[in-house]
Amino acid sequence: MKRILITGAASGIGLATARHFHDNGWRVGLTDVNDTALAQLAATLNHSWHRRLDVTDSIACQHACRDFAEDGCIDVLFNCAGILRMGPFESISAEQHRQIIDINVTGLINMSLAAHPFLQESRAAAVINMSSASALYGVPHFASYSASKFAVRSLTEALNIEWGRQGIRVVDIMPPFVKTPMVEQASFRPPILDRMGVNLSADDVVAKVWQAANEKVPVHNPVGLSFKLLKLLDKALPSGSTRLLLQFLSRD
Ligand code: NAI
Repeated sequence: MKRILITGAASGIGLATARHFHDNGWRVGLTDVNDTALAQLAATLNHSWHRRLDVTDSIACQHACRDFAEDGCIDVLFNCAGILRMGPFESISAEQHRQIIDINVTGLINMSLAAHPFLQESRAAAVINMSSASALYGVPHFASYSASKFAVRSLTEALNIEWGRQGIRVVDIMPPFVKTPMVEQASFRPPILDRMGVNLSADDVVAKVWQAANEKVPVHNPVGLSFKLLKLLDKALPSGSTRLLLQFLSRD
């Protein structure tokens, strides 16, 4: 039975991914900082494994990977845990900016390091990282979040080459807005959110994660037609065009 270890499994994209892989015969390892929601999910998924885990705690990440692997391997690590704070840069405290980087970037590094020995034991290992459309160009009202996803993007690119030599595929997923609690429960709604709309469901992202876990895919995997188009235009149009578009979409 193949094994996937998921961070941020208690909500949104992580939760939908856990259900899909479970329903398709995988052993799923569920981790999240929200232990109540995690236990509720685990109760619905037979033979799943779960552990409360804060990805910023590197020692706890090592214990979680070791215990889930049970002397065997981890086939797929899905680095999905993340937080978002939207708003004018100066309205977000230094502590909140730091948390975004700690969870979205350091957490992903902690988990990748901790899982590495167990990924090496798999014949078809993959690390799938949740990046975002905001890793294409810095997004107004998302500055630190966008920076964190640029970091995820570059970590993915580097490890795609480094760990690719060891037979571990490392790729990322880049969706624009997805209908999950992260977006729906946000206290600030930036203008760009209403102008672009929230047109993707968690299941749209899961389809990409499933594909990335089971077949060879490119290093970056955009989701949704509108963002695929934007990514193409970013390459095709003169430099400065994406900046102008984001300036227009984020105006008050
Ligand atoms: P969500 O808020 O529904 O789920 C995120 C989960 O991460 C929550 O269960 C939360 O408890 C967990 N988490 C937060 N801090 C944690 C920590 N320190 N340690 C462990 N778990 C922690 O969000 P959603 O939408 O499912 O997001 C999943 C990933 O997808 C995130 O990395 C997000 O940045 C990314 N993403 C989301 C988009 C969206 O529009 N919803 C778009 C692009 C990327």
